[in-house]
Amino acid sequence: MLSKKEIYKQAYKELEHRRLKRQLDRTNNLKIASSICPEIKILSTSLSKTAIALSKSILSNSSNQSEIIKRIHEENVKVQNQINKLLIENGLPQNFLSPPPVCSRCEDFGFVDNKKCSCLIKLVKKILTKDLQKSSNFYLTSFKDFNLDYYSKEYDAKYGTSPYEHMSSIFKICKEFADNFPNSSEGFVMCGLTGLGKTHLSLAIASEVISKGFAVIYSTASEITRNMSDRYFHREQNNDIDYLKLIVETDLFILDDLGTEFDSAFSKSAIFDIINSRIPLHRPTIINTNLSPRDLEKKYGERIVSRIFSTLNTLSFTGTDNRKHSLIKKLPRH
Ligand SMILES: Nc1ncnc2c1ncn2[C@@H]1O[C@H](COP(=O)(O)OP(=O)(O)OP(=O)(O)O)[C@@H](O)[C@H]1O
Ligand SMILES: [Mg+2]
Ligand SMILES: [Zn+2]
Repeated sequence: MLSKKEIYKQAYKELEHRRLKRQLDRTNNLKIASSICPEIKILSTSLSKTAIALSKSILSNSSNQSEIIKRIHEENVKVQNQINKLLIENGLPQNFLSPPPVCSRCEDFGFVDNKKCSCLIKLVKKILTKDLQKSSNFYLTSFKDFNLDYYSKEYDAKYGTSPYEHMSSIFKICKEFADNFPNSSEGFVMCGLTGLGKTHLSLAIASEVISKGFAVIYSTASEITRNMSDRYFHREQNNDIDYLKLIVETDLFILDDLGTEFDSAFSKSAIFDIINSRIPLHRPTIINTNLSPRDLEKKYGERIVSRIFSTLNTLSFTGTDNRKHSLIKKLPRH
C-alpha cells in the first residue's frame, strides 16, 4: 500500500500534468490560430509586450504609476477583444488561446486560500481507491463472459424451476443493478456453494460501475480485517488517512468471501461497522458468502445478520462448480 507521502506526490504530479497540458494546448492553439490568421500572432505578441511593460511600471514606482497601469490595462482589453473577434471570424472558439483548467476553482493548483481544493481531495481519493484495488488482486470480469449454459435446464424442486432459469433471473437482476447504478437497490447478499459465479457476477457489476466513473472498492473479508487490524493496532504511517471512511463512502463496496476470515471480535466489528455505516448513506454493498443464512447467524449473531438480510436482496446461487468449465477452456488442445 502507498504511504500518505506517495499518495500526495502522485496527486501533485497529476495536477502538474494538467497545468502542463494546458500550457501546451495554449502554445499549440496559438500556432494553429496564427497559421489561419497571422494577425492573431502579431496581436498576441503585443499582448506579451504589454505584460512586460506592466511589470516594469509596477517596479518603477513613478509618480503617475496608476495612470500608466490603467492605460496598459485598457490597451490590453482592446487587444484581447480584437483577438476574440478574429478568432470568431475564423471559426475558432473564443477561449481557443486560453483553454480552461480542469478545475476552475484552483486553476489546477490544488489549493484555494491555502486550503485543499475539492479537486485535490477527489484526486487523493481516486488514488487511494486504485491502490486498495491493486492490493487485493482485483481483476475484472464481464457480463459477456458469463455463460448461462453452465447451469442445468432440468427442473429443481428447491427453486420450482431449473437452475438455468433461476440463474438467468439472477443474471438479469445483476445486469439491471449495474445498468441503473447509482439508482439501484441497496445491494445483494450472494449466497451459494463454491464456483457458482458469485465473484464473477459481482466483478462484472464492478466493471460496469467503474466504467460509469464511480468508485468501487473490492475486498475479501480476510483482507479487510487484516488491513483494519494493521492500521488499528500498529498505527501505521498512514494513520491520518482514514481508510475506514474511504471504504464507508465508496460508491460501491464488494465484500467477498464473508465467513472465511480469521474469526475474532475485532474482525466482526470491523466488517459490520462498515456495512452498518453504509446503509443510512444508501451506498450499495455486495456481500458474497458460502455460508447459509443460518450459519451466518451462528457466526455473527442474529441482530447483525437480520439487519443485512432485511436491507440487501438475497441472491441464492445454484448449480455445480463452474471451475471445471473454465479449466477445460484453459487446457491446451491437441
Ligand atoms: N456462469 C459462468 N460463466 C463463465 N464463467 C464462470 C461462470 N461461473 C463461474 N465462472 C468461472 O468459474 C470460476 C469460479 O467462479 P467464481 O469465482 O465466480 O465462483 P464463486 O461463486 O465466487 O466461488 P467461491 O464461493 O469459491 O468464491 C471463475 O473463473 C469464474 O470466472
Ligand atoms: Mg468467490
Ligand atoms: Zn481545484
